[in-house]
Amino acid sequence: MSRIDLEPVKGTRDFYPEDLRFRSWLFGHMRAVATAFGYEEYDACVLEHAALYIRKAGDEVTRQLYEFMDKGGRHVALRPELTPSLARMVMARGAALALPLRWFAIPQCFRYEETQRGRKREHFQWNMDVIGLASVAAEAELMAAQAELCRRVGLRLDGPEPEALWRVSDRRLLADALAGLGLDEERAAAVCVLIDKRGKIGDEELLAALGELGVDREASRRLFALLEVRGLEQLGALLPAEHPGLRALRELLALAESHGIAHLIRIDLSVVRGLSYYTGIVWEVFAAAGTFRRAIAGGGRYDRLCAQLGGEAVPMAGFGFGDIPIQEVLAELGRLPPLPRTLDAVVYPMDGALIPLANRLAARLRAQGQSVAVDYTLRRFKHVVQRAESDGAQALYILGSDEVARGVCKRRRLGGARQEDDIPLAAFGIA
Ligand code: HAM
Repeated sequence: MSRIDLEPVKGTRDFYPEDLRFRSWLFGHMRAVATAFGYEEYDACVLEHAALYIRKAGDEVTRQLYEFMDKGGRHVALRPELTPSLARMVMARGAALALPLRWFAIPQCFRYEETQRGRKREHFQWNMDVIGLASVAAEAELMAAQAELCRRVGLRLDGPEPEALWRVSDRRLLADALAGLGLDEERAAAVCVLIDKRGKIGDEELLAALGELGVDREASRRLFALLEVRGLEQLGALLPAEHPGLRALRELLALAESHGIAHLIRIDLSVVRGLSYYTGIVWEVFAAAGTFRRAIAGGGRYDRLCAQLGGEAVPMAGFGFGDIPIQEVLAELGRLPPLPRTLDAVVYPMDGALIPLANRLAARLRAQGQSVAVDYTLRRFKHVVQRAESDGAQALYILGSDEVARGVCKRRRLGGARQEDDIPLAAFGIA
């Protein structure tokens, strides 16, 4: 038989312990921030009904689905994102849910896309969502939580040159312009998805695709001009003051001030997001330091997703924040934390007959809350010490027959001090 492929499936990742230490560190901060903001953790299965992701608007996630028929003939998919599962769960509980809710999750997601810097076919995505609150206070809070995470993992946001920026728009601004061109809501959503690809496909291809949706070249050019708008002042000059999109952005900025993040927000109409379900404010977070130019997080308001899935409309807003882009950024800036392996102690029986005693000693130390490994190799002392030190152990408990005959074990402190002392086995209740 030929040897199996040792590489993980293309675009997926193996997490060796040193990789998992980073992941756990990052997830720990994500959980801590979400909990600090009063969000509750939830999850769903990575295997979902494929129908949840099959949207007519041309969303990229629809085309990137890992999908198959299960043995019962169900069309299922590995989730490319968590939001539709969240909507399904909210719909399933319906009126039994006491709204508003604040929920978070760190789902593993799969998208069959081209792997490139910061993008793989498997990623984890921290999600925070507010369910049942129509106020922009939700979006402002969500952005504040993202900023808090960025700070906690080491990005500098408060100097004259913040290392991450929030580019924010409101889908209703573009939607209005599209309605003015006679496009219904469905086609308008499809145009947003197309416009999101502008950087990737280039203007010529975009113009042709817009033409197919019924937007002629002249109207497309006017749309492109709208996408150039930056800042509230420029926007205010174009729209009536009571335009809901403009009002929402004004309110957002005022609330952002109270969260201490107003200086990080850039009104930028070129942000449209590639998912068709957004209905209001949309935003993406970008690193402003280093060379990584893709979004590190994205979110928005999606008040009609439940209705699109056949239920009652529920106002919802949230974001997804991937584990891969932020790692790219931190690595480039030299901010990855040192995360050595840690272990409190190693117990070393010098002879096979002492292994049972070593196990009892380890159990007593573990009962005190220590992480303890027993070295069963019976190798020479020098090798055991080297291995224990490289595993980050603070102490080595040596069980040799001479010591045990005297009713003690030897404890050697590792690292700098290398002090040794005898401890009576009776102190552990195992003499
Ligand atoms: P999204 O913009 O598709 O939004 O993804 C959010 C974030 O997930 C991205 O900014 C990026 O950090 C990460 N991400 C997505 N795809 C990949 C990939 N292939 N490789 C690495 N990282 C990736 C959503 O998924 C929405 N469901 C977010 C949301 C939650 N909106 C409302 N609630």
